Amino acid sequence: MTTPNLIQKAAALIRDSQNITVLTGAGVSRESGIPTFRDALDGLWARFNPQELATASAFMANPKLVWDFYEYRRDIMRDKSPNAGHFALAELQRRYPSLVVITQNIDELHEQGGSTGVIHLHGRIAGNKCFYNCQGDPTMVDVSLLSWDKENGPPACPHCGRWVRPDVVWFGEMLPPAALNAAAEALQVSELMLVIGTSGLVMPAADMPMVIKRRGGKAIEINPDDTPISDIADIKLSGPSGEILPRIVEALDEA
Ligand code: OAD
Repeated sequence: MTTPNLIQKAAALIRDSQNITVLTGAGVSRESGIPTFRDALDGLWARFNPQELATASAFMANPKLVWDFYEYRRDIMRDKSPNAGHFALAELQRRYPSLVVITQNIDELHEQGGSTGVIHLHGRIAGNKCFYNCQGDPTMVDVSLLSWDKENGPPACPHCGRWVRPDVVWFGEMLPPAALNAAAEALQVSELMLVIGTSGLVMPAADMPMVIKRRGGKAIEINPDDTPISDIADIKLSGPSGEILPRIVEALDEA
């Protein structure tokens, strides 16, 4: 139960910090109707484990299966809108312009909610690129310009004729260096991290709150459940981010 007192303590920490970093995961988009990564899949996909589909080897073994899985996830995300949590984070960034949002999410609801300069550690589901990274120009492939037989799986890369894949990071792959560098720069100066809606199981994101703590900074976790991050958080706010974040913004107004 997150009491008004805890919310005020979180607001006070925010007020006292010059440089704030926010790390988000799938939980922040859940109230928009997007299931989290570890929520069970429904329908046709219920028998699959998403972690086994989100790999380059799964794609090589069965490109159609993995492409269709991402088409299914795109369908889920297509008509979704930012929720009160996304809007509250954008409002926080308006008040603290140096605030940096680092997300593991492949949707773009932070941007749609008004956040700027969002660092996407795991790519964006809206984008597509060559599976073989053939370096054709442009690197991003606009699949809406291509026609192909969807029964055969992914379209062919317009540059090299091999497969197109979604522009997301799969298990076992390197994170995009530009995103990783931008995140490292933000962490270096950050005194406070808000860790929101992530299970804290996937590196390197899971270690980011520790990076700040080791430098003497603080961490606030917002999540209805406990995670490995709960143990190191200075303040744990239990509850959905779409409720907790607007309460924090209100508490900042009250002070
Ligand atoms: P997970 O699905 O692992 O965890 C979602 C977290 O959100 C859980 O801790 C939930 O308790 C929490 N949660 C649920 N509803 C919430 C709400 N309304 N408000 C706040 N929190 C809520 O998702 P991630 O931690 O994002 O990576 O997963 C991290 C990465 O693991 C994903 O980006 C994906 C996956 O492997 C790749 O695909 C590379």
